[in-house]
Amino acid sequence: MPKAQSADAGDPTPAIGGSESIWLRPMDEFDVASVASIESKVAPDGWTSALFAGEFGLAADARHWLVAIDGAEIVGFGGLMIAVDEAHVLNVATDPGHQRRGVARHLLTALMHDAADRGVGAMTLEVRASNEPALSLYRELGFVIAGTRPNYYADGEDAVIMWLHDLFAWQRGCIETMKETM
Ligand SMILES: CC(C)(COP(=O)(O)OP(=O)(O)OC[C@H]1O[C@@H](n2cnc3c(N)ncnc32)[C@H](O)[C@@H]1OP(=O)(O)O)[C@@H](O)C(=O)NCCC(=O)NCCS
Repeated sequence: MPKAQSADAGDPTPAIGGSESIWLRPMDEFDVASVASIESKVAPDGWTSALFAGEFGLAADARHWLVAIDGAEIVGFGGLMIAVDEAHVLNVATDPGHQRRGVARHLLTALMHDAADRGVGAMTLEVRASNEPALSLYRELGFVIAGTRPNYYADGEDAVIMWLHDLFAWQRGCIETMKETM
């Protein structure tokens, strides 16, 4: 896997915007128990430890996972599947005790920059139609609703499909905003 600037284990990225103590690094096998524990709190029917562990057996350039750290504690995680020039958000979650601190925004923003840096031009995801927190988060980051997948989830709930069609334009916008605020 090419070294991702914002996720270099030797150069942790300090968080921005209201969560100064939080930083990000790539997820590794030793994080699986902590990550699965967060997942079990926010999505009891979600990913299992085995599923997270299986991600590390896959081609390194096809996956990109980050964890968010506060002190010594993992407080969130997010991951992408990368296929040629498109990325799919596989999962993102924040420990309930650390939500609304900008953790997921920070994780997703870093994943989006990393993907753009690798030449990935578009990003997509599915989210439960009732998951207003996640829908708001993705909308805020520039994703738009592109359709639904009826009965996508095991309990029959529909998935909303969202896309960010031009990740490079999104990244240019971030850089422009950063220049204006300097
Ligand atoms: C969705 C989730 C990842 C958000 O994590 P978080 O770290 O609390 O999110 P952030 O603090 O970065 O929030 C960023 C923005 O998302 C939106 N948002 C986040 N939580 C929200 C909530 N409960 N209600 C409404 N909007 C919300 C807001 O726009 C927020 O910005 P603001 O706090 O400035 O208003 C978290 O609620 C979670 O883990 N949910 C369970 C797992 C999940 O649904 N994952 C998504 C699967 S597709």
